[in-house]
Amino acid sequence: MNKIPYLFSLLFLMNCNSSLEKEKKYFSPGEKWMDNNGVHINAHGGGILFHEGLYYWYGEHKIEGEIGNTAQVGVHLYTSQNLYDWKDQGIVLKVNETDPESDIYKGSIIERPKVIFNKKTKKFVMWFHLEPINKVYKTAEGANVGYGAAKSGIAYSDSPFGPFEYLRSVRPNAGKWPINVQDFHKKKVSSEVKKIYGGGPEHLPVHVDSLNILGRDFKIGQMARDMTLFVDNDEKAYHIYSSEDNSTLHISMLSDDYLSHSGTYKRIFPSKFNEAPTMMKSSSGKYFIIASGCTSWSPNPARSATSNNIFGSWKELGNPCVSRDSLTTYYSQSTYILPINGIKDAFIFMADRWKPENPIEGTYVWLPIKIKNDKLIELEWKEKWDLSVFD
Ligand code: DGJ
Repeated sequence: MNKIPYLFSLLFLMNCNSSLEKEKKYFSPGEKWMDNNGVHINAHGGGILFHEGLYYWYGEHKIEGEIGNTAQVGVHLYTSQNLYDWKDQGIVLKVNETDPESDIYKGSIIERPKVIFNKKTKKFVMWFHLEPINKVYKTAEGANVGYGAAKSGIAYSDSPFGPFEYLRSVRPNAGKWPINVQDFHKKKVSSEVKKIYGGGPEHLPVHVDSLNILGRDFKIGQMARDMTLFVDNDEKAYHIYSSEDNSTLHISMLSDDYLSHSGTYKRIFPSKFNEAPTMMKSSSGKYFIIASGCTSWSPNPARSATSNNIFGSWKELGNPCVSRDSLTTYYSQSTYILPINGIKDAFIFMADRWKPENPIEGTYVWLPIKIKNDKLIELEWKEKWDLSVFD
């Protein structure tokens, strides 16, 4: 037998196999994820907008070293058609480098940016957790107050590619009571409550309602730290954030132009210390929240909840993670739930595996969300997976 043609076909087949291997598309949760330039994606605490056939992933740009936990550059954008391959589109909201009094001056804290599109105004609207470092927010000794301001920043653009123009920062719903306000909230607040409680359950060991932090912040507006945005089928948008020294989630309806709060909001899960809230809605109209506990950059067990209405009543469902390492949410913390365009009830849980000592190395944990009987959601660990899980 003539071996030469045989060898050629073998080589041909091997070559086909290796290019098929290259073409293979999958998600590898927790691994480094390279963009079109071969650089690890830098969009932490992010969220994804789907607009006219393209996915836009906006997230915190981190730099090397602990200083990278503060905003040194701005909000980074990547785009994709298939969710596996991401193209670097650069920085779409830049920190201010010239005016130390700017809210978004270099060194401030800009976290968890999310962008939504307003069909009426045709504007792309970005909200993020903001801790300014201008003089209002310094201690008497001139140090930054860290997470004490607990504000929300708002920016907008005519294009999803930016640049985004910074508009203002707010404490949500100043002078407004939530729809589930209770009489005791309206009573005089004791001077003991005036201080800030450090942002973790260990700093606030009593039930938040025995302190009335809602009442404390009524005039200046409520605290807002970890956050997400959610647009409902009727185009009403909601800002969901950890408030009242992180003890309580607020679900707050935005104004029709999405640039401010409407004044209608609800407190949920008081004293449960939910951080990193995310929200989704199934095709039958059920709402689900996945959030984390409150342990700084260290992972903890995720929580989930469901409701028939966005303002509740919300029912707790427990930790949706069902595989090994469920107690650390697979070493990650939620940031967004992405509905996949064109596939009914297909959602991706997006989370961050933080590296606070060198934040630029943080990786991303993406997992498919299983909806069980429209009642429960489950997150099973997968080493590698692709969108065919939704077939
Ligand atoms: C946990 C939050 O989820 C993060 O976004 C960040 O604010 C860290 N805390 C800071 O410790």
